[in-house]
Amino acid sequence: MKRIAVMTSGGDSPGMNAAIRAVVRNGLEHEIEVWGVRQGYAGILSGDMHKLTSFEVSGILQRGGTILQTARNEEFKTPAGQQKGLRQLNQRGIEGLVCIGGDGSLKGALALHRLGFPVVGVPASIDNDLDGTNMSIGVDTAMNTILDSLDRIRDTASSHTRAFLIEVMGRNCGYLAIMAAILGGAEIVSTPEREISMEEIGKSLADAYLRGKSHAVAVIAEGVSYDINELAAYLRGKSDVGFDIRLSILGHVQRGGSPSAFDRLLATRMGVKALEFLLEGKSGVMTALDGREISPIPIEDAIKRIRPINPNYFDLARILAR
Ligand code: ADP
Ligand code: F6P
Repeated sequence: MKRIAVMTSGGDSPGMNAAIRAVVRNGLEHEIEVWGVRQGYAGILSGDMHKLTSFEVSGILQRGGTILQTARNEEFKTPAGQQKGLRQLNQRGIEGLVCIGGDGSLKGALALHRLGFPVVGVPASIDNDLDGTNMSIGVDTAMNTILDSLDRIRDTASSHTRAFLIEVMGRNCGYLAIMAAILGGAEIVSTPEREISMEEIGKSLADAYLRGKSHAVAVIAEGVSYDINELAAYLRGKSDVGFDIRLSILGHVQRGGSPSAFDRLLATRMGVKALEFLLEGKSGVMTALDGREISPIPIEDAIKRIRPINPNYFDLARILAR
C-alpha cells in the first residue's frame, strides 16, 4: 500500500483530530501517503480529498471537532452511491480507507469493504453505542462535560429546593445517562434500556421531597419514549411533587471541547493501529478497546446491536441514590 485515505463521519466527537493525526504520522513512519477526505461520505462522492502533510496535522491533538469536517449523506446509503464512491477512491489511486465515526459511518465502511475495498473503522461517537469496544472516542470528554454541568445545576437546585430534569445525549443508548447519574449523584435516571415512567418519576420526586431532600436531579436520556417538556408539564401538574420543577437540555455542548487525556490516548492508539491493520491486510474490521489492547473486531459485530449497559450499573445508581 502506498496511498490511503482517512475520513471523519457522522456526529463529531472530541478526539477525532487526535485520531487523524495518528493515522497521518504513522503513515509517514511507513512511507505511506495519507489523504484526508473532507465532510465524510459527501467528500468521498464529490472527490473532495487531498494529501495531508505532517504540518497540516500539527497543533490539532488538543482540538475538539474535526479538521476534516463531517457530514451526513443520504446518497452513500444507496448501492449506486457506494459504487460512485468506490470509483472516486480508485481514480485517485487510494488503496485503503480509515473511517472514523459512529455506527452509521461504520455501516458505510462495511458497504465499501463488501465491494472489495480495504477499510478499517475507528469508533468515535459520544454515544458509546458501538458494541465490542469498551469505549468509543469522545465518550470520556462528553462525560466530563456533562458532570461539570450537573455539578453546577445541583448548586442552584439545592439553593432553591428545586428538582431538575436534565436531558443528555446518546441517541438510543443510555450509557451517558446512567454514568452521569452514578457519577453526578442523581436521584433518578431514565434510559431507553430501562425507562422509568413519568408516574414513577413523580412518585420518586414526591418521596425525596418528603424525606427532606433540598433538591433532586433526574437524568433523562434523549432516547426515552417521552419528551422532557412533556415530563416537566406532567410533574408541574401534580400537587404532591413538592419541588419546583426546572429542566435543562444539555444539547451540543456535550459534543465539543478539548479531548480528555483518556480520549487523546485512545484516539492516538486507535489511529496508529488502524493503519497497521490496513497494512496487515485486514479489512472490514474496527479498532476495539479490548482490556488493555486495541484489537481488530469485525465491523459487523460492532453494529449488530446497541452496546448493552452492564445491569450492575442500574443497581449502583439505585443504591447510591438513597
Ligand atoms: P454516526 O456515524 O455518528 O452514527 P450517522 O448514523 O448519521 O452517524 O451516519 C453517518 C453517515 O454514514 C450517514 O449520513 C451516511 O452517509 C452513512 N451511513 C449510515 N448508514 C449507512 C448505511 N446503512 N449504508 C451506507 N452508509 C451509511
Ligand atoms: O451521535 C451523536 C449525537 O450527538 C447523538 O447523541 C445525538 O442524538 C445526535 O448526534 C444529534 O445529531 P445532530 O448533531 O445532527 O443534531
